[in-house]
Amino acid sequence: MAINSLANELREGTTKSHSMAENVGFVKSFLGGVVDKKSYRKLVANLYFVYCAIEEELLTHKNHPAIQPIYFTELNRKTSLSEDLIYYYGPDWLSLIEPSPATKIYIERIHNIGHKQPELLVAHSYTRYLGDLSGGKILKKIARGAMNLSDERGTKFYDFEQITDDTIFKNKYRSALDTLPLSDEQVKNIVAEANISFNLNMKMFEELNASLLKIATMLLANSIQKFRAKQKSTIAAD
Ligand code: HEM
Repeated sequence: MAINSLANELREGTTKSHSMAENVGFVKSFLGGVVDKKSYRKLVANLYFVYCAIEEELLTHKNHPAIQPIYFTELNRKTSLSEDLIYYYGPDWLSLIEPSPATKIYIERIHNIGHKQPELLVAHSYTRYLGDLSGGKILKKIARGAMNLSDERGTKFYDFEQITDDTIFKNKYRSALDTLPLSDEQVKNIVAEANISFNLNMKMFEELNASLLKIATMLLANSIQKFRAKQKSTIAAD
């Protein structure tokens, strides 16, 4: 059967991955309003490296027939992420951050396909940018509330300043996907790559889970210690 809409293939072909991503602990706690600043700034740092890789490869291949129609500079996130990083880490932010192990694997994958099969970059652009445009407004509100951010800083990542209407833009992006000159085989490979991209994102979120778990364990260990110390001093006083 001939494939006629890459946009539909991508949406349908990643539905399962999408619900799996929604169920990662970190993503679930984020949605539930549990966001600690330390994990969040780590996420922003990891995303900075991911978007540097995506945007570098898209720029390199911006005249490739499969990339040019979906090359929209108004989607670029590198600058907004660096503004958030200045807020969370201070002026020396660049020397204070490094990609996590899962992030390294993610960015290696992006550069690798950039060299070997640039049309697969479409999958990485789709997974991140359409996801950001879909959930950004809600996530911004949750992040600001949970971390008690008072001024306008710390959530620039969610502001697509050159995009006035997210829904109209998403439709434009989806129509552009459908104009890409691709064979059925290439469409299948792009959908498969989008699932890989979801998976790489999940791995990145799962690491943040681990640090949330670490925080919880530390808090528990601290309160046990305090409790024991209190018990000892009560016994000594008796
Ligand atoms: C709990 C977390 C999430 C929720 C509640 C959520 C919710 C949604 C919703 C409601 C849409 C549909 C928007 C529309 O049709 O206009 C959407 C689309 C999308 N989301 Fe998510 N999302 C979550 C996490 C993620 C993650 C982690 C990713 C990838 C890293 C992602 C990638 C996408 C993409 C690519 C689309 C566009 C689908 C398409 O139109 O083809 N989402 N999301």
